[in-house]
Amino acid sequence: MSEILKIDNVYKYFGKFAANDGVSFGLKEGGIYLLVGPNGCGKSTLVNCISGIFVPEEGHVYYREADITSEDMYKIARRGLVRTFQIASPFLRLTTLENMLVALPENAGENIALSMFKPTWVDSEINAVRRASELLKVLGLKHVWNKPANTLSGGELKLLEIGRALMSGAETILLDEPVGSIDPVLCHQIFAHVLRLRDELGITFLVIEHRLEVAAQYADHVFAMDRGRLVTEGTAEEVFADERVIKAYLGE
Ligand SMILES: Nc1ncnc2c1ncn2[C@@H]1O[C@H](COP(=O)(O)OP(=O)(O)O)[C@@H](O)[C@H]1O
Ligand SMILES: [Mg+2]
Repeated sequence: MSEILKIDNVYKYFGKFAANDGVSFGLKEGGIYLLVGPNGCGKSTLVNCISGIFVPEEGHVYYREADITSEDMYKIARRGLVRTFQIASPFLRLTTLENMLVALPENAGENIALSMFKPTWVDSEINAVRRASELLKVLGLKHVWNKPANTLSGGELKLLEIGRALMSGAETILLDEPVGSIDPVLCHQIFAHVLRLRDELGITFLVIEHRLEVAAQYADHVFAMDRGRLVTEGTAEEVFADERVIKAYLGE
Protein backbone atom coordinates (compact mmCIF):
# COMPACT_ATOMS: atom_id res chain seq x y z
CA MET A 1 0.00 0.00 0.00
CA SER A 2 1.43 3.38 -0.92
CA GLU A 3 1.37 6.34 1.42
CA ILE A 4 -1.59 8.67 1.19
CA LEU A 5 0.15 11.44 3.13
CA LYS A 6 3.89 11.92 3.29
CA ILE A 7 5.73 14.49 5.39
CA ASP A 8 9.28 14.88 4.18
CA ASN A 9 11.85 16.73 6.31
CA VAL A 10 9.58 19.61 7.36
CA TYR A 11 11.07 22.65 9.12
CA LYS A 12 8.95 25.47 10.50
CA TYR A 13 10.60 28.37 12.32
CA PHE A 14 9.24 31.09 14.55
CA GLY A 15 12.14 33.52 14.46
CA LYS A 16 15.16 31.32 15.10
CA PHE A 17 13.17 28.71 16.99
CA ALA A 18 12.43 25.53 15.04
CA ALA A 19 8.95 24.42 16.12
CA ASN A 20 9.28 21.63 13.51
CA ASP A 21 12.89 20.60 13.19
CA GLY A 22 13.07 18.19 10.25
CA VAL A 23 9.98 15.99 10.64
CA SER A 24 9.39 13.04 8.27
CA PHE A 25 6.75 10.33 8.34
CA GLY A 26 4.07 8.75 6.20
CA LEU A 27 0.47 7.57 6.57
CA LYS A 28 -1.14 4.69 4.72
CA GLU A 29 -4.70 4.90 3.52
CA GLY A 30 -7.30 3.68 6.01
CA GLY A 31 -4.97 3.81 9.00
CA ILE A 32 -5.62 5.43 12.36
CA TYR A 33 -2.47 7.24 13.40
CA LEU A 34 -1.75 8.96 16.66
CA LEU A 35 0.73 11.82 17.04
CA VAL A 36 1.74 12.36 20.66
CA GLY A 37 4.20 14.53 22.51
CA PRO A 38 4.25 16.99 25.41
CA ASN A 39 2.68 20.45 25.13
CA GLY A 40 4.71 22.76 22.94
CA CYS A 41 6.59 20.00 21.09
CA GLY A 42 5.27 21.13 17.69
CA LYS A 43 2.25 18.92 16.99
CA SER A 44 -0.17 21.70 16.05
CA THR A 45 2.53 23.46 14.05
CA LEU A 46 3.00 20.30 12.02
CA VAL A 47 -0.76 19.96 11.44
CA ASN A 48 -0.76 23.60 10.32
CA CYS A 49 2.08 22.83 7.89
CA ILE A 50 0.19 19.82 6.50
CA SER A 51 -3.14 21.62 6.11
CA GLY A 52 -1.75 24.76 4.48
CA ILE A 53 -2.13 27.22 7.34
CA PHE A 54 1.67 27.48 7.56
CA VAL A 55 4.18 27.07 4.75
CA PRO A 56 7.25 25.23 6.02
CA GLU A 57 10.61 26.92 5.44
CA GLU A 58 12.04 23.60 4.30
CA GLY A 59 10.73 20.18 3.36
CA HIS A 60 7.67 18.93 1.55
CA VAL A 61 4.21 17.56 2.17
CA TYR A 62 2.70 15.16 -0.36
CA TYR A 63 -0.92 14.03 -0.54
CA ARG A 64 -1.69 11.16 -2.90
CA GLU A 65 1.74 11.83 -4.39
CA ALA A 66 0.98 15.47 -5.24
CA ASP A 67 3.27 18.08 -3.70
CA ILE A 68 0.90 20.26 -1.62
CA THR A 69 3.62 22.10 0.32
CA SER A 70 2.66 25.68 -0.49
CA GLU A 71 -0.86 25.08 -1.69
CA ASP A 72 -3.75 27.17 -0.35
CA MET A 73 -5.66 25.65 2.54
CA TYR A 74 -8.94 25.41 0.64
CA LYS A 75 -7.28 23.61 -2.27
CA ILE A 76 -5.77 21.07 0.10
CA ALA A 77 -9.20 20.55 1.63
CA ARG A 78 -10.67 20.03 -1.85
CA ARG A 79 -8.21 17.21 -2.34
CA GLY A 80 -9.85 15.47 0.61
CA LEU A 81 -7.27 16.33 3.29
CA VAL A 82 -9.16 18.19 6.01
CA ARG A 83 -8.30 19.30 9.52
CA THR A 84 -10.64 20.10 12.33
CA PHE A 85 -9.69 22.84 14.70
CA GLN A 86 -9.09 22.44 18.39
CA ILE A 87 -12.35 24.20 19.14
CA ALA A 88 -15.45 22.96 17.33
CA SER A 89 -17.14 25.82 15.55
CA PRO A 90 -20.52 24.86 14.12
CA PHE A 91 -23.26 27.41 13.53
CA LEU A 92 -24.88 27.17 16.90
CA ARG A 93 -28.38 28.28 15.90
CA LEU A 94 -28.58 25.91 12.94
CA THR A 95 -29.70 22.33 13.43
CA THR A 96 -27.35 19.37 13.21
CA LEU A 97 -28.60 18.55 9.70
CA GLU A 98 -28.32 22.18 8.55
CA ASN A 99 -24.76 22.30 9.87
CA MET A 100 -23.98 19.23 7.77
CA LEU A 101 -25.53 20.74 4.65
CA VAL A 102 -23.71 24.08 4.90
CA ALA A 103 -20.43 22.15 4.99
CA LEU A 104 -20.91 21.16 1.34
CA PRO A 105 -18.23 22.71 -0.87
CA GLU A 106 -20.82 24.54 -2.99
CA ASN A 107 -21.97 26.38 0.12
CA ALA A 108 -18.50 27.37 1.21
CA GLY A 109 -18.62 30.63 -0.76
CA GLU A 110 -15.91 29.38 -3.07
CA ASN A 111 -15.35 29.79 -6.76
CA ILE A 112 -17.80 27.93 -8.99
CA ALA A 113 -14.85 26.44 -10.87
CA LEU A 114 -14.18 24.37 -7.76
CA SER A 115 -17.44 22.53 -8.24
CA MET A 116 -15.57 19.99 -10.37
CA PHE A 117 -13.97 18.82 -7.15
CA LYS A 118 -17.31 18.13 -5.55
CA PRO A 119 -17.91 14.56 -4.52
CA THR A 120 -20.01 12.87 -7.19
CA TRP A 121 -22.83 12.14 -4.75
CA VAL A 122 -23.67 15.84 -4.53
CA ASP A 123 -25.84 15.79 -7.61
CA SER A 124 -28.83 17.25 -5.94
CA GLU A 125 -30.08 18.49 -2.65
CA ILE A 126 -31.85 15.19 -2.11
CA ASN A 127 -28.59 13.32 -2.42
CA ALA A 128 -26.97 15.80 -0.06
CA VAL A 129 -29.63 15.22 2.56
CA ARG A 130 -29.33 11.47 2.04
CA ARG A 131 -25.57 11.62 2.44
CA ALA A 132 -25.87 13.81 5.57
CA SER A 133 -28.37 11.41 6.99
CA GLU A 134 -26.10 8.39 6.34
CA LEU A 135 -23.19 10.15 7.99
CA LEU A 136 -25.27 11.19 11.00
CA LYS A 137 -26.22 7.54 11.40
CA VAL A 138 -22.58 6.37 11.36
CA LEU A 139 -21.72 9.15 13.81
CA GLY A 140 -24.57 8.26 16.16
CA LEU A 141 -26.13 11.72 15.73
CA LYS A 142 -29.33 10.81 13.94
CA HIS A 143 -31.48 11.37 17.02
CA VAL A 144 -30.34 15.01 17.24
CA TRP A 145 -30.66 15.80 13.51
CA ASN A 146 -33.29 18.49 14.06
CA LYS A 147 -31.83 20.00 17.25
CA PRO A 148 -29.96 23.31 17.19
CA ALA A 149 -26.22 22.76 17.58
CA ASN A 150 -26.20 24.81 20.79
CA THR A 151 -28.18 22.04 22.51
CA LEU A 152 -25.60 19.32 21.67
CA SER A 153 -23.10 17.98 24.20
CA GLY A 154 -19.36 18.62 23.86
CA GLY A 155 -18.85 15.13 22.48
CA GLU A 156 -21.71 15.46 20.01
CA LEU A 157 -20.24 18.74 18.77
CA LYS A 158 -16.90 17.03 18.12
CA LEU A 159 -18.69 14.31 16.16
CA LEU A 160 -20.62 16.95 14.24
CA GLU A 161 -17.35 18.62 13.35
CA ILE A 162 -16.07 15.33 11.93
CA GLY A 163 -19.38 14.94 10.08
CA ARG A 164 -18.98 18.38 8.54
CA ALA A 165 -15.48 17.50 7.40
CA LEU A 166 -16.89 14.36 5.75
CA MET A 167 -19.69 16.32 4.08
CA SER A 168 -17.05 18.59 2.60
CA GLY A 169 -15.50 15.52 0.93
CA ALA A 170 -12.80 14.62 3.47
CA GLU A 171 -11.00 11.30 3.00
CA THR A 172 -8.18 12.01 5.40
CA ILE A 173 -8.98 13.83 8.64
CA LEU A 174 -6.50 15.58 10.91
CA LEU A 175 -7.94 15.78 14.41
CA ASP A 176 -6.03 18.18 16.63
CA GLU A 177 -6.71 17.21 20.25
CA PRO A 178 -10.27 16.04 19.54
CA VAL A 179 -10.92 14.94 23.10
CA GLY A 180 -9.32 17.83 24.98
CA SER A 181 -11.44 18.73 28.02
CA ILE A 182 -13.83 15.83 27.37
CA ASP A 183 -14.40 13.13 29.95
CA PRO A 184 -13.05 9.60 29.34
CA VAL A 185 -16.42 7.98 28.58
CA LEU A 186 -17.08 10.49 25.80
CA CYS A 187 -13.51 10.09 24.54
CA HIS A 188 -14.12 6.42 24.00
CA GLN A 189 -17.41 7.12 22.25
CA ILE A 190 -15.68 9.53 19.89
CA PHE A 191 -12.92 7.05 19.11
CA ALA A 192 -15.45 4.25 18.62
CA HIS A 193 -16.94 6.43 15.87
CA VAL A 194 -13.52 7.15 14.41
CA LEU A 195 -13.03 3.37 14.10
CA ARG A 196 -16.44 3.00 12.47
CA LEU A 197 -15.67 5.72 9.93
CA ARG A 198 -12.42 3.99 9.08
CA ASP A 199 -14.03 0.56 8.81
CA GLU A 200 -17.18 1.62 6.93
CA LEU A 201 -15.90 4.51 4.80
CA GLY A 202 -12.14 3.90 4.66
CA ILE A 203 -11.32 7.29 6.19
CA THR A 204 -7.68 7.85 7.22
CA PHE A 205 -7.11 9.63 10.54
CA LEU A 206 -4.20 11.45 12.08
CA VAL A 207 -5.18 12.14 15.67
CA ILE A 208 -3.13 14.59 17.73
CA GLU A 209 -3.31 14.09 21.45
CA HIS A 210 -0.95 14.95 24.28
CA ARG A 211 -2.58 12.65 26.80
CA LEU A 212 -0.95 9.30 26.16
CA GLU A 213 -3.58 7.13 27.77
CA VAL A 214 -6.64 8.42 25.92
CA ALA A 215 -6.29 7.37 22.30
CA ALA A 216 -3.56 4.73 22.36
CA GLN A 217 -5.83 1.70 22.21
CA TYR A 218 -7.43 2.91 18.97
CA ALA A 219 -4.28 3.68 17.02
CA ASP A 220 -2.69 1.34 14.48
CA HIS A 221 0.53 3.29 14.68
CA VAL A 222 1.90 6.00 16.97
CA PHE A 223 4.35 8.83 16.24
CA ALA A 224 6.01 10.57 19.17
CA MET A 225 7.47 14.08 18.98
CA ASP A 226 9.67 16.04 21.33
CA ARG A 227 11.07 19.53 20.85
CA GLY A 228 10.17 19.77 17.19
CA ARG A 229 11.41 16.32 16.21
CA LEU A 230 10.01 12.87 15.70
CA VAL A 231 11.71 10.80 18.43
CA THR A 232 10.22 7.39 17.74
CA GLU A 233 7.31 5.54 16.15
CA GLY A 234 5.68 2.13 16.39
CA THR A 235 2.81 0.42 18.15
CA ALA A 236 1.38 2.16 21.21
CA GLU A 237 3.13 -0.37 23.48
CA GLU A 238 6.49 0.20 21.81
CA VAL A 239 6.23 3.97 21.83
CA PHE A 240 5.02 4.32 25.40
CA ALA A 241 7.77 2.05 26.68
CA ASP A 242 10.43 4.08 24.85
CA GLU A 243 12.78 5.92 27.18
CA ARG A 244 12.92 8.97 24.92
CA VAL A 245 9.14 9.33 25.13
CA ILE A 246 9.11 8.89 28.90
CA LYS A 247 11.88 11.48 29.20
CA ALA A 248 10.03 13.92 26.96
CA TYR A 249 6.96 13.67 29.17
CA LEU A 250 8.84 13.88 32.44
CA GLY A 251 10.79 16.84 31.08
CA GLU A 252 14.22 15.46 31.88
N1 LIG B 1 2.29 31.39 15.74
C1 LIG B 1 3.32 31.15 16.57
N2 LIG B 1 4.26 32.10 16.82
C2 LIG B 1 5.31 31.86 17.61
N3 LIG B 1 5.54 30.69 18.24
C3 LIG B 1 4.65 29.71 18.04
C4 LIG B 1 3.50 29.88 17.20
N4 LIG B 1 2.80 28.73 17.19
C5 LIG B 1 3.48 27.87 17.98
N5 LIG B 1 4.58 28.46 18.50
C6 LIG B 1 5.56 27.81 19.37
O1 LIG B 1 5.99 26.63 18.73
C7 LIG B 1 6.11 25.57 19.68
C8 LIG B 1 5.22 24.43 19.26
O2 LIG B 1 3.87 24.80 19.43
P1 LIG B 1 2.67 23.84 19.02
O3 LIG B 1 2.92 23.33 17.66
O4 LIG B 1 1.41 24.57 19.27
O5 LIG B 1 2.84 22.67 20.09
P2 LIG B 1 1.83 21.51 20.51
O6 LIG B 1 0.66 21.52 19.60
O7 LIG B 1 2.64 20.25 20.44
O8 LIG B 1 1.44 21.79 21.93
C9 LIG B 1 5.76 26.16 21.03
O9 LIG B 1 6.96 26.53 21.68
C10 LIG B 1 4.94 27.37 20.68
O10 LIG B 1 5.08 28.36 21.68
MG1 LIG C 1 -1.42 21.70 19.94
